[in-house]
Amino acid sequence: MMLRDSIWGMPQISDIMPFPIANRITEVQSPVIPIVGEWVAAHPGTISLGQGVVHYSPPPQVQDGIQTFQSDPIHHKYKLVQGIPELLSALTNKLQTDNGIKIDPLDRLMITAGSNMAFMNAIMAIADFGDEIILPKPYYFNHEMAITMLGAIPKGIDPDANMLPTLSAIESAITPKTRAVVTISPNNPSGMVFPKSLLTEINQLCKERGIYHISDEAYEYFLYEDATHFSPGSLPGSEEHTFSLFSLSKAFGFASWRIGYMVMPAALMPSVKKIQDTNLICAPAISQFAAVAALSAGKTYCTQHLPAMNNVRRHLLEGLEALKPFVRIIPAKGAFYVLIELDLEAQPLEVVEKLIQDHHVAVIPGTAFGLDQGCYLRVAFGALQEETANEAVERLLKGLKQLRDHGMQ
Ligand SMILES: Cc1ncc(COP(=O)(O)O)c(C=O)c1O
Repeated sequence: MMLRDSIWGMPQISDIMPFPIANRITEVQSPVIPIVGEWVAAHPGTISLGQGVVHYSPPPQVQDGIQTFQSDPIHHKYKLVQGIPELLSALTNKLQTDNGIKIDPLDRLMITAGSNMAFMNAIMAIADFGDEIILPKPYYFNHEMAITMLGAIPKGIDPDANMLPTLSAIESAITPKTRAVVTISPNNPSGMVFPKSLLTEINQLCKERGIYHISDEAYEYFLYEDATHFSPGSLPGSEEHTFSLFSLSKAFGFASWRIGYMVMPAALMPSVKKIQDTNLICAPAISQFAAVAALSAGKTYCTQHLPAMNNVRRHLLEGLEALKPFVRIIPAKGAFYVLIELDLEAQPLEVVEKLIQDHHVAVIPGTAFGLDQGCYLRVAFGALQEETANEAVERLLKGLKQLRDHGMQ
């Protein structure tokens, strides 16, 4: 099954333009965040529970990194494709300490302009036109878009009731054209932290079937209660078939600096170097120097914010609990998202528009993540500060109550 732009029903650009446009691109779903962003802009004062960003800025140390960059004019020249040695070395240490992934960076590590780019590099390196990539639902929309843009086929598979993929569903989706299985833990949009046993089984299955496991760990530090993070790339024997993708965007408040990185099988390094050299040459050097400095603050720079974020999360969950059974909450302990399903016969995108129009609060429809059965909404709480969270939560709850009591009228 090919996942297409079924949600928006918009005319394809190629229908209205006289000059050619690649179907590969027009067939890709339109990114939902800018659409919701336009509605938010049209309703000033709307609070966004839409975008997946944190409320805090990068650590003050980044100023030192910028000074180092500026101290030598050589830094204005192109840098090595894989990344500056200082950042490769800092990340090698981080990967060993925080993730249990031990690597020789020159063989396996690539610094990219954000981890979206790392994902695209990975797919370009492993999939030809018509090859299939298994994307357990709910998936991250940019993954689905990247696969389609590159002429490969995203194969969505349905989750269990708790939004986790089952091994049997993955197994039955594998065909001779399958090149990889993608997992995201902690997950966007569900917030689910995949059990270590499940990630291990998926990694093992990929190995047995001769396909890759692409593990997106952008939210590795965002864990609540008793949740713990596991990197399948740390498993012995995973080196030849596992990609581990990471990002500074969330953990270090670095979204616009565009720094991500990927550990990959060594055999793919020559291919990925070609791709990166053609596409980017190197990640922006000023951001790489800033990243070296940010990493010196360690993961505690992120984890120190978690108690406050958990307070916001608990406040949101308590409010939503009171709306059961109209609202079903996916029981998750990671990232900064709460995924809910409404007992409502309505298109999630229309619900989102109504919440913005009538209640000045924005969320993201589950359809953007491949959840096309049921009325799912993703609520993002990372951008909220404890002091301002009340208003946002009140508006959302009021809007949901109105939908419960009066439907879409
Ligand atoms: C699962 C997941 N991976 C990757 C990204 C993108 O990260 P980056 O900013 O490093 O490209 C996001 C951003 O929302 C995400 O949710």
